[in-house]
This record gives sequence, structure tokens and C-alpha cells, in this order.
Amino acid sequence: MSRRLLVTGGAGFIGSNFVHYWCDNYPDDKVVVLDALTYAGNRANLSSLEAKKNFCFIKGDICNSSLVKQLLESEKIDTIAHFAAESHVDRSILGPGAFVQTNVVGTYTLLEAFRQYWLTQNQPGHYRFLHVSTDEVYGSLSPQDSPFTETTAYAPNSPYSASKAGSDHLVRAYFHTYELPTIITNCSNNYGPYQFPEKLIPLMCINALLGKPLPIYGDGKNVRDWLYVKDHCNALDIVINTGAVGETYNIGGNNEVENINLVHTLCQIIDKLAPDLPIKPSEKLITFIKDRPGHDRRYAIDATKIKNNLGWTPLVTVEEGLHLTVQWYLNHNQWWQLLLSQEYQDYYRQIYKK
Ligand code: NAD
Ligand code: TYD
Repeated sequence: MSRRLLVTGGAGFIGSNFVHYWCDNYPDDKVVVLDALTYAGNRANLSSLEAKKNFCFIKGDICNSSLVKQLLESEKIDTIAHFAAESHVDRSILGPGAFVQTNVVGTYTLLEAFRQYWLTQNQPGHYRFLHVSTDEVYGSLSPQDSPFTETTAYAPNSPYSASKAGSDHLVRAYFHTYELPTIITNCSNNYGPYQFPEKLIPLMCINALLGKPLPIYGDGKNVRDWLYVKDHCNALDIVINTGAVGETYNIGGNNEVENINLVHTLCQIIDKLAPDLPIKPSEKLITFIKDRPGHDRRYAIDATKIKNNLGWTPLVTVEEGLHLTVQWYLNHNQWWQLLLSQEYQDYYRQIYKK
């Protein structure tokens, strides 16, 4: 069945990977990207698709309900893949307001516009609203705790995760109250091409290439579960096409790693792949800094449900994925150099001056 998708946040990291994935795998589907192009959005991520007749890009805010309504109708959308969000924990600590606006109000705006539109179309059974969320809504685990399942109670700790939790609750309520065909996915930390350099892996990669310090928060023993972004896109494809409405699916990489170990592995790969590093070995650049306020200790995902019910498992190991990612950043020097703007330098100083 061919689809007509509205991809919100399609110029960001995961959204743009998803758009490339979808256009490669479903060339006959229509893909409309709606993205406000905040600091994290980059139209260049989609430049190779601009000429395609089944692709179009709209610069706009998901909080703009008349724009969303008009797009749903004029493009005859049947599937929303909702990625648009403020997504970085450190920025949410500096300024939570934008997170509440986009993540909560923006998600509400999309849900309500989609509901009205779905009603006018007589509630077609194949329509979908996929809400892409995070494992961070479940809070923090201690070393002996079992990984998060879909029934783990929500306990968000940062303004980012609290705003994502709020959006998840709204999506859930729209299914239970109105039977809107929604599905929620809660995924662990992603990495791969097109990730903005504020996040751990691209930040370490770029700083090592520039010979700058590699700042590790606290004791470096916080644990994250890493998933290569293409595995995430594949999971979302399976969820859209075969997931049950009203359900939540946890998505994870089965790759729990302490930050310090991840950065050591990354440094070794960079030393091997990068020809002219200003400082070698890169590990010499590792610098422990003051911890992030409220820093969650450990995230881990139990992805049994999506594996058993929908047959999805991740295919890319962390070693493979990190090699691919480092090579991508090496090959796309111009892409990331342009992102090291004044705004980025100001942000960087604010976070790392301590
Ligand atoms: P990102 O910050 O790289 O991209 C977000 C995109 O949303 C950008 O293109 C930005 O311009 C756009 N955007 C922001 N506000 C908008 C608005 N009001 N209207 C329209 N567009 C707007 O984020 P990402 O890392 O690609 O994450 C995408 C989604 O996946 C988010 O919802 C995030 O919570 C979720 N998620 C991310 C991860 C991860 O590791 N990055 C893990 C699990 C879930
Ligand atoms: P991040 O990529 O910001 O993702 P999240 O906080 O959403 O999990 O950070 C991943 C981990 O790396 C997290 O434990 C914080 C840590 N970290 C550092 O130690 N130094 C840094 O400069 C950054 C950005 C993150």
C-alpha cells in the first residue's frame, strides 16, 4: 500500500535519516517534510532529495495549526511520522520554555489537527500517527535494575524528558478518548550520520579532529544504550506498517556502554581512520568536567515486545556503527564545519565554561 507521509522534524538528525530511508525503500510514496529549521534543523541534510517529484519540504512550525491543517488536506496525508522536538538535555536545562512549547504544545497541535482531518475523512483505518519518543521518559536506572519495558512507570528527570513524557501522555489520551490511530515508540540513544555536534558522539568526534578537549561529565560511568540510527529507521518502518494502534514499542540497541568506555573506543577508531590528527592518541584529550545537573545514571531498554510481536532486532553492532559514523564525519567535514556557528560557540561556552 502506498502512503502519503508528513514527516515533522525531517531536517533534523533522526528525521532526515528516516526520510532518506523511506525515499530509498518506498520510492512511490509521497514524503512531505515539515520543519521549522531551528538551530538543529538543516535543509542540506535533504539536498539530494530536493529534485524528486514525490518529495517536498515545507519550512514551518508544528505549533502553527492552520498550516498543519492546510498541509494535511492539500497533501492528502495518511501517515504522520512525528520527530519534531527540542531534543537536547543540556539545552533544556538552560531554557526549558522552548521544550514545553514544541514538545507539548506542538504535539497537541498536530494531534488535534490530525484528529479533525481524520474525522472529515470518515476515520480511515489505515491512517497512522507515529509519535517518536525516548527512553528518557522512564527516568534513571541503578546498575542492578532491569531494563525499561513498555509498562515501566514514567519518571522523567530533565525538562527535556518531562516535556517528551507530556507529549506521550497526550498521544496516549488521543487514542483512548478519540480512538485516533496513534502508536508511540520509545527509543534509546541514537548515533550516526547528520547528528548535530552538541550530542556526545559527534561532539567527541569533531573535537578530536580539531584537537580540542573531550569533556566527560562526572565520573564518566553513566550508561547509555546505543542504537545506530538506520536500525531505528527500520524499526519505525516496521511499526508504521505492522504495529498495533494504541500500542507503545520500546526500541533499543542491546548495547549498554559506560560513557568513558564509549569515548575510549571512539578515540581508537578516530586514531585509526583520521590521517592527520592535531593530537594523537586522541585519548590524551579526555577531560573530566563538572557533572550535568540531574544527570540520569543509566538507561537500558528491554526490546522484547518489538522483537516478539513485530520481528525487529538491531543489526549494526556498536563497533561497526562507530566506524561508519567516524568515517561519515571524516567525509563530511564541510557539513559539520558550517554548524560550528557563533550560536554554537555561545552555547558551547555556556555549557562547558565550568
Ligand atoms: P534533532 O534536534 O536533531 O531534530 C529536531 C528537528 O525538529 C530539527 O530539524 C528542528 O528544526 C525540528 N523542529 C524543532 N522544533 C520544531 C517546531 N516547533 N516545528 C517544526 N520543526 C521543529 O532531534 P533528533 O535527535 O533527530 O530527535 C528526533 C526525535 O526523536 C525527537 O522527538 C527526540 O525526542 C526523539 N529521540 C531522539 C533520540 C536521540 O538519541 N537523538 C533518541 C530517542 C528519541
Ligand atoms: P547526550 O548525547 O547528550 O544524550 P542524553 O543525555 O540524551 O543521553 O549524552 C549522552 C551521555 O554522554 C550522557 O550521559 C551525558 C554524556 N555527555 C558527556 O559526558 N559529555 C558531553 O559533552 C555530552 C554532550 C554528553
